[in-house]
Amino acid sequence: MITGATSVYGIIGNPVSHSLSPVFQNRAYDYLGLDAVYVPFLVQPDGLVGALEGLSRLGVKGVNVTVPFKELVVPLLHELTEMARQMGAVNTIQFNGDHWVGTNTDGDGFWNAMMDLGVSSEATCGIVGSGGSARAIAMGYASRGGKKLRMLNRTLEKAHRLKRDIQLWYPLLDCEVASIGDVGVLQGCDLVVNTTSVGLGGGSQGLMDMGWVNHGQMVGELTYGAPSEWLEAAKARGGVPFNGRGMLLHQGILSIEFWTGKRVPMGVCEEALRGIF
Ligand SMILES: NC(=O)c1ccc[n+]([C@@H]2O[C@H](COP(=O)([O-])OP(=O)(O)OC[C@H]3O[C@@H](n4cnc5c(N)ncnc54)[C@H](OP(=O)(O)O)[C@@H]3O)[C@@H](O)[C@H]2O)c1
Repeated sequence: MITGATSVYGIIGNPVSHSLSPVFQNRAYDYLGLDAVYVPFLVQPDGLVGALEGLSRLGVKGVNVTVPFKELVVPLLHELTEMARQMGAVNTIQFNGDHWVGTNTDGDGFWNAMMDLGVSSEATCGIVGSGGSARAIAMGYASRGGKKLRMLNRTLEKAHRLKRDIQLWYPLLDCEVASIGDVGVLQGCDLVVNTTSVGLGGGSQGLMDMGWVNHGQMVGELTYGAPSEWLEAAKARGGVPFNGRGMLLHQGILSIEFWTGKRVPMGVCEEALRGIF
């Protein structure tokens, strides 16, 4: 029951109506016995400053941040965790009165999901794409002691920029970048993740030649609907597939912990999404 004492959390983005975070976050608060509710807030592209000010003034305790605001919120916050500073992006804000703190749980969310699948941080990692999620996964990898990273991107300069940024924090990381056609660098990677926004709605088949896939190699993508043509092609070559569901849930679990200090079991969040996807 919502009362005057109920704490409000949410997610800001545009679009935001597709988000599954409200489904498992609200179940998590019930499980944890918290008097709290989680709601989606659609924010217009030119309305970010006003939205944060309004949420804070209305006593909202915290929000997740999704596309297109993860980087735009950074200069508006009063404090960033080290992970948020490394990534230059925030997916979780805590409003402590007039003091707003940002962190980023995407990288740890991804790697916690990989640990569930038995992948260790010793694994050699290949990342296709160099956008925001690639940055989170790469920084998360290096922060956990990962040693060997391979990154491919359509826009090669962006991959080089990401490599430079990572090596500022982790100079010993063995990091090689290539354009998306140079798939040979993925050979021998224990794990390859496709972080590009290509895939949903088709079109991913021509993304790259798939000759690099080895039998038993972990190969996955960050979307969590039906598998893309890219993932189907990797499966056909013996790759062990995964999708973005684990990352979605783990980043949310870490956000809840950041806000409340309480940790909800993965099974509770998975159960909330059963039958939805
Ligand atoms: N499961 C989760 O919890 C989770 C979390 C975060 C994101 N995601 C998903 O991950 C995906 C990427 O998100 P993001 O925030 O990283 O996006 P982003 O910052 O916009 O980056 C998009 C990436 O896709 C590449 N790309 C786009 N169109 C392409 C094409 N036609 N051919 C080749 N490469 C192309 C871009 O390459 P260029 O640099 O060349 O443009 C860039 O590397 C989205 O589908 C998002 O929904 C899932």
